[in-house]
Amino acid sequence: RKVIVVNGPNLGRLGVREPDVYGHQDLETLRRDCTAWGRELGLDVEVRQTDDEAEMIGWMHRAVDERTPVVMNPAAFTHYSYGLSDAAHMVTDAGLPLMEVHISNPSARDAFRKYSVISPVATGTITGMGFYGYRLALEAVAHLLEQ
Ligand code: DQA
Repeated sequence: RKVIVVNGPNLGRLGVREPDVYGHQDLETLRRDCTAWGRELGLDVEVRQTDDEAEMIGWMHRAVDERTPVVMNPAAFTHYSYGLSDAAHMVTDAGLPLMEVHISNPSARDAFRKYSVISPVATGTITGMGFYGYRLALEAVAHLLEQ
């Protein structure tokens, strides 16, 4: 079963951007990790990244139409994009898993990071576990698909 792992703005800069917060590994490493973890779980994982809100919203529309479960790190969109929130809501409303992941623990950081517009519509949220959080999210998706 296909699963998309979508990453929002500035996550193409992993490894370079605030390595003390996000680690020293880059997006390509995350892509390889997620693909390998997916394979172990019997999931065909496709990892994407965009800085463009419209593109991310379009991915959610397609996920609904093609019945594709989603793992999402919405990055800064987390904190303000009602457009992405509505699009994510369509995914879970369609009965598909949508797991929200954050590499850091946003609630331990700046005040503006304490609220997520995605969490209220997500199936579940994993924060503060680094890249390992994506593995946990993929395990959750595999579990939910077995239900
Ligand atoms: C992030 C946390 C967000 O607050 C931030 O804007 C990001 C990354 C994380 O993975 O910890 O870009 O989603």
